[in-house]
This record gives sequence, structure tokens and C-alpha cells, in this order.
Amino acid sequence: MPGKATSRKPGRYADAVRSIWRHSDGVESRESVQRNDTVPLDEAARQNGAISQNEDAIRRDIVRYATLAPSGHNAQCWRFQIEDHCISILPDLSRRTPVVDPDDHHLYVSLGCAAENLVLAAQVYGFDGALRFSSASDGVVSVSLIRSSAIRPASPLFQAIPYRQCTRAEYDGRPLGSEELRLLQAAGTGSGVAPILLTGHESIEKVLESAVQGNTMQISNPAFVDELEHWIRFSDAEAVRTGDGLPSRATGNPPVPRWLGRRLFRMLFRPQPENDRLARHIRSSAGIALFVSNVDDRAHQVEAGRCYQRFALQATALGIRNAFINQPVEEPALRREFARAFAPADGRPNLVVRFGRGQKMPRSLRRPLEAVLL
Ligand SMILES: Cc1cc2nc3c(=O)[nH]c(=O)nc-3n(C[C@H](O)[C@H](O)[C@H](O)COP(=O)(O)O)c2cc1C
Repeated sequence: MPGKATSRKPGRYADAVRSIWRHSDGVESRESVQRNDTVPLDEAARQNGAISQNEDAIRRDIVRYATLAPSGHNAQCWRFQIEDHCISILPDLSRRTPVVDPDDHHLYVSLGCAAENLVLAAQVYGFDGALRFSSASDGVVSVSLIRSSAIRPASPLFQAIPYRQCTRAEYDGRPLGSEELRLLQAAGTGSGVAPILLTGHESIEKVLESAVQGNTMQISNPAFVDELEHWIRFSDAEAVRTGDGLPSRATGNPPVPRWLGRRLFRMLFRPQPENDRLARHIRSSAGIALFVSNVDDRAHQVEAGRCYQRFALQATALGIRNAFINQPVEEPALRREFARAFAPADGRPNLVVRFGRGQKMPRSLRRPLEAVLL
């Protein structure tokens, strides 16, 4: 059941953050990888159809990096299956968020985010990391673990994985340089998906208008508020115990006992103050990225997740923060209007993300590996 299946003992929030958001020993400083310069394959074990202990530890570590990806409401809607030549990511449908995401769009985008981390980590460990996902794959994303003969530098994107976060705060309002924008555009571009970067005052105000409309619709919907409350972790103890969800700290609120947090949430979570906060957040940003795909299907949702993840990691590597403001694409009627205003004909806007420079916020948590391994 979501929020229950973990083996981490309740402890201090800071300890949990330290144990989750880190590079594995020796991996961060790795400059390049080539055939067999990691732990060599144990040929005897391989011939017997078994994976050696070291190889198993490497595969588990690759999955650990994948779990550091973002997911809608931090529901961590994924399961991982480790096999000899591949790691599969399966949707965990018990962790759907049916009100905000009735068609599982965000769920598959989240799988794409995890897949991108998985590919980057697999490459650092000397695997080719080729990804397979198609309408015939039953919603399962597979990443190949065939040894690569290519020498690859450990990319800045991989190195950024433990430092990435969704930063829900005001930024400093300053524009980015053209080289920074070029790098973000390149990182976020994939196969049939690309970001449209909006940096002009007028277009940012137009996005704000849609976001406010969407926010008002969502906050006025009791089912949306119930679902959101279900995923908020009001106290440190519940955040650490579940290892998932939206910790109060990550949105700039102090941790409080659940009974009190619920009361305050029900009292204070109202359209006007939330829209005012949204306006401050958007107006303090350097720009907004819309991730638009040219086809609206599962494969492009996974691809949109991969593109966003590379964008977010590239931003992190440059010291640039980002956060989602997805309200305009979560309400179907609003999404159609939004697409007409911003996307090319037939393009589906998948994600709306603001970016800019600013302070870091407290981190979210993750469940331990054993909770996500099949
Ligand atoms: C597909 C997707 C949709 C998301 N939508 C929103 C959103 O609308 N608003 C928001 O504040 N965060 C959104 N998030 C961010 C998640 O809440 C965040 O990734 C999660 O809480 C974990 O935090 P972290 O990314 O800082 O590790 C979304 C993430 C994903 C992958």
C-alpha cells in the first residue's frame, strides 16, 4: 500500500537526506569508463546463468540512481526488475494519482525521468544503456545492460543526479545567458519532444494566467485537495517512515504533527493565497519551458520524462533551479486552449516548468531499494 512498505526506521530527517542524496563511493570522481575497467564480469558465474555479487551490487546501484528521479506527488510510481542483460521499470499502478492524473500521463512521464537516470548510471558503469519502450511493451521500460566498448566520460548530467531537486521557491528574477539557454534547449530535446523556452514578459504573463486558472479549478475540486493531502507528509516522522510524498519542508513549511498539519492545510489552502504565491514564483523566474511532443502517446510521454530529466540535470549542473507549474496541462479543457496558444499544430504540451537562479530548498525523500525491487 502506498506510503507503508518501507523498512527504514523512523529517524532524523537530515540523516535520511544524507543517506539518499549521495553519489556511490568512487563513482562521482570516475572520469571515464571502458570495457572491463569497472568490476570485471565474473565469467564463471555468467556461464552458470548467475550474476556475480559485484555485478549484482552494480545493478542495484544503477537502480538506486534511477529512484532519485522526480515523480508526480513523489509517489514513486515505479518497480524495478533486475535481470542479467537488462533492468526493467514497471509502472506501479497502486501509486497512481487518479484525480490530478486520470490518464496516467504523469505516471509515464515519471517512468521516463527514472529511465533517464538509469541510462546515465548504466553508462557510467560501462553498459550501453539502450532504452526500449513501445506500445507493444505493456507499459514496461527496459534498459539494456550490454557491455559497451565505448569510452565515455562520466557526464555532468550524471554527476548532477544527487543535487537535482524541484525548487518550489521564489527565484532571483534575473535572466539567463544565451549560452545557458542553448544548453538547456539541447539537453531537453529528444525524439519527437522538445522544450519551447519562453523568456519574454508577455508570454510569461500568459502562462501565469493559465496557471492561475488551472490552480483555481484544482483547489476548488475537493477530490484534488483530498488526493494532495494524502501525499503531504506534514511531520518529519511520517516523511521518514514512508520515504515518499511531499514533505512540508520541501514547500517551505515547518514540519508539524499530522493532525495539526491537516487542520492548517484545510484552513489555509485556498485559491487566492495560492494564486498569489504562484504569481510570485512565476514572475521571479528567468523563463518557462514547455515540453511539447509531436505525438500524444505513451512512448512520447516516456520520452518527455527523459527530456525533462536531462533538462533538469543540465540546469542543476549550471546552478539553475527549476520547478513544475503543470496546472495549465492538467485540466483537459485548459490544456487544449494552452496548446493552441503555445504549441505547434497537433503538438501536446506535456509539462510546464519554470527556471531561474535561487536558493536551494530542503530535499524530498525516497523509499529504500527493497521497497521498489521486484
Ligand atoms: C510528471 C511530473 C509532474 C509533476 N507535477 C508537479 C506539479 O504540478 N507541481 C509541483 O509542484 N511539482 C510537480 N512535480 C514534482 C514532484 O512533486 C517532485 O518531483 C517530487 O515531490 C520529488 O521531489 P524532487 O523532484 O525535488 O526530488 C511533478 C513531477 C513529475 C515527474
